Amino acid sequence: AQEQTFVMVKPDGVQRGLIGEILARFERKGLKLVAAKLVQVSQELAEAHYAEHRERPFFPELVRFITSAPVFAMILEGENAIAVVRGMMGKTNPAEAQPGTIRGDLALTIGMNVVHGSDSPESAKREMELWFPEGALSYERSLD
Ligand code: CMP
Repeated sequence: AQEQTFVMVKPDGVQRGLIGEILARFERKGLKLVAAKLVQVSQELAEAHYAEHRERPFFPELVRFITSAPVFAMILEGENAIAVVRGMMGKTNPAEAQPGTIRGDLALTIGMNVVHGSDSPESAKREMELWFPEGALSYERSLD
């Protein structure tokens, strides 16, 4: 089915100049960019985004990291976009991510794994509403 998913280049990826590299991979795959912005993440947004990890020992570190520098937030659209993006990102722990995946090629440690993508239709909906209350745009009027 056609899906939309929330994806972000994390502070480490933005600081290393990897926005273009990461976006280019998704674009070449055929996913369509329907929303995008650079965001300096607030404490409130960080805690809401990572609410499910609130009780984990690494939660404070997670919030400190994601608020440390701008992130590049986007919504990608396409056939099976949620699973396709997760496959392209590779395993959460870059040490276990296959070469050819974003984390397998570009990251080394679990805390700084350069990219986030929604893990289910439910989290995609929740994260898109949280990060893009203004909504995504539609290409309905374009010439393709
Ligand atoms: P993400 O998919 O964005 O959502 C939860 C994040 O928690 C995950 O990426 C990792 O970057 C991070 N994470 C998971 N396990 C650990 C850990 N043991 N230490 C630090 N960060 C972690």
